[in-house]
Amino acid sequence: MTVMRKKTVAALQTEAGETEEMLQETHGGHALKRTLSALDVVLLGIGCIIGAGIFVLTGHAAAANAGPAIVISFVLGAIVCALAGLCYAEMASTVPVSGSAYTYAYATMGELIAWLIGWDLILEYAVGATTVAIGWSGYVVSFLHSLHIDIPAQLSQAPFAYEPGKGWSHAGAILNVPAMVIVGLITILLVVGIRESARVNSFIVVIKVLIVLAFIAAGITYVDTSHWVTPTNPTGAFLPPNTGEAGVYGMSGVLRGAAVVFFAYIGFDSVSCVAQETRNPRRDMPIGLLGSLTICTILYVLVSYVLTGIVSYDKLNVADPIAVGVDAIGMRWLSPIVKLGAIFGLTSVILVLLLSQPRIFYSMAKDGLLPPFASKIHPRFHTPYITTIVTGLIVMVLAGLLPIGLVGELVSIGTLFAFAVVCIGVLVLRITQPDLKRAFKTPAVFIVAPLGALSSVFLMTGLPADTWIRLVIWMAIGIVIYFGYGIRNSRLRNARETPPAHTARN
Ligand code: ALA
Repeated sequence: MTVMRKKTVAALQTEAGETEEMLQETHGGHALKRTLSALDVVLLGIGCIIGAGIFVLTGHAAAANAGPAIVISFVLGAIVCALAGLCYAEMASTVPVSGSAYTYAYATMGELIAWLIGWDLILEYAVGATTVAIGWSGYVVSFLHSLHIDIPAQLSQAPFAYEPGKGWSHAGAILNVPAMVIVGLITILLVVGIRESARVNSFIVVIKVLIVLAFIAAGITYVDTSHWVTPTNPTGAFLPPNTGEAGVYGMSGVLRGAAVVFFAYIGFDSVSCVAQETRNPRRDMPIGLLGSLTICTILYVLVSYVLTGIVSYDKLNVADPIAVGVDAIGMRWLSPIVKLGAIFGLTSVILVLLLSQPRIFYSMAKDGLLPPFASKIHPRFHTPYITTIVTGLIVMVLAGLLPIGLVGELVSIGTLFAFAVVCIGVLVLRITQPDLKRAFKTPAVFIVAPLGALSSVFLMTGLPADTWIRLVIWMAIGIVIYFGYGIRNSRLRNARETPPAHTARN
C-alpha cells in the first residue's frame, strides 16, 4: 500500500550527511550548518525543559494531587521520559536528521504514520510554544506589577475564555500583547542563526540553573517535615491519604501528579531536531538527550522536596509557588530574582520549541509532504527561514488569542503520543534491521521500548476526555491534509514512479 511506503535508513543516513556542495548540485539549495557542540546540545535540552512546569505546575500538582509525594510524581515522570529518551537516543544517533520522531516513523512505520507524527509534533512544538508564551506573559505582567508598572489586562490577556462543559465566552480583553511580542522577537533571532540562537540559549540556561540552585541551597536547611501536616493529612505522612476522590492524594494522586508534571520534562526530545546542525550527531545526540534529562531530573526532585518542606503543600496552588517558597523562609529579596529566573526560563523554552518546529516542517517539505517552499534554507543564515517565520506568525496569533487552560494538556498528550511511536519504532528497526550500525544502543531494548510505549500511553489515559477529543480532531484534520496533498506529492512516491534520468534518456 502506498501509504505504508518507507524511507530506507541508508537514504536517511545519506541525507544526514548532505553537504552544502551536494545540495547545490542536486537541488540548487543550501544546507543546514553543523556548528553545535555536545555542550550546546545539552544546554538546548535544559533550555527547553526547565520552564513553566517547575516554576508553575509543581505547586498546583502538590496542592491538588500529591502533597509532599510530588517528589515521587517527578521521579515517575522522569522514568517515563528516560525510557522514551533511551529510544530517542538510539534513533537520533542512527538516523541523525532534523525530522526527529517524524523521520524515525518514516523509516519504520511508513509514510502515513510518519505524516501523522509530524502533524502531532505541531502540538508539542508550536502549541507548546504558544502555551509557554502565554505563561511568560503572566509572569512578566506580575513582575512588572511588583515594580509598579502596570500593563492593562485588556492588553495582556486572551480575548476568549474556555471552560470545559460551558464552552467559549468573551473574556473582555483585546489581545495578549506581551505573549505576541516575545514570540516575534525570538522568531527574528531564530532566522538570524542557529549559532546565535544557541548562544542566547546558553546564557539564559546558566542564569536559570543558577537561580534554581540558589533556591535549593537557600531552602534546604529550612526543610521541616511539620509542614506536611495539614487538615487532610493530620499525621503528616509523606504520602497524604486519598480523600476518596481519584487523583486527590494517595497513590492515585501521585499518578495524576505525574501526568501533570510530565509537562515539566517536555523538551528534552527537541534536541533531536538539531541533529543536522551538530558536529558529531552520533555522539552528541545521546549526550544531549540523556544529559539534559538527567540534570533536570535531579534539579526537579530537589526543588519539589525543598518546596514542600518549607511551605505546606495546601498553600502552593498559586501561579508563582517558588516565589511563595522563598517568601516563606524570610528571603523576600530572593523572590523578584526567582520571578526573573522564571521569565528567563520560559524565554529559552519558547526559543527551543520555536527552533524545533520549523525543522520538522523542513524535513516534511524535503520529503514532498509539505509544499517545497517550506524546505528553503537561507543562503546567508543557513536556517530554515520560511518555516521559522510561518511558525512564528502562527504561534503569535495563537498566543495572542487563546487562554492557557485550553492548550497546556494538548501539548502533553501530543508529546506522549510521539514518545510511544518512537519507542515502537526502535523495536521495529531492531527486528527488521538487526545488523544496522547503531552508534548508541538502547540497553535491554525489548524491555525498555515496550515499557516506554506503555507508560506513555498510561500517562495519556490520565488526561481528560476533552483533551483526547481535541487530539482525535487534530489527527483527523491531518489525515485529510495528507490525502489531499502529501500522498500525491511525496518524493518517495514520485521517485519510485519516475524512472531514473539515465534510463529515461536511453
Ligand atoms: N518543559 C517545558 C516547561 O516546563 C515545556 O515549560
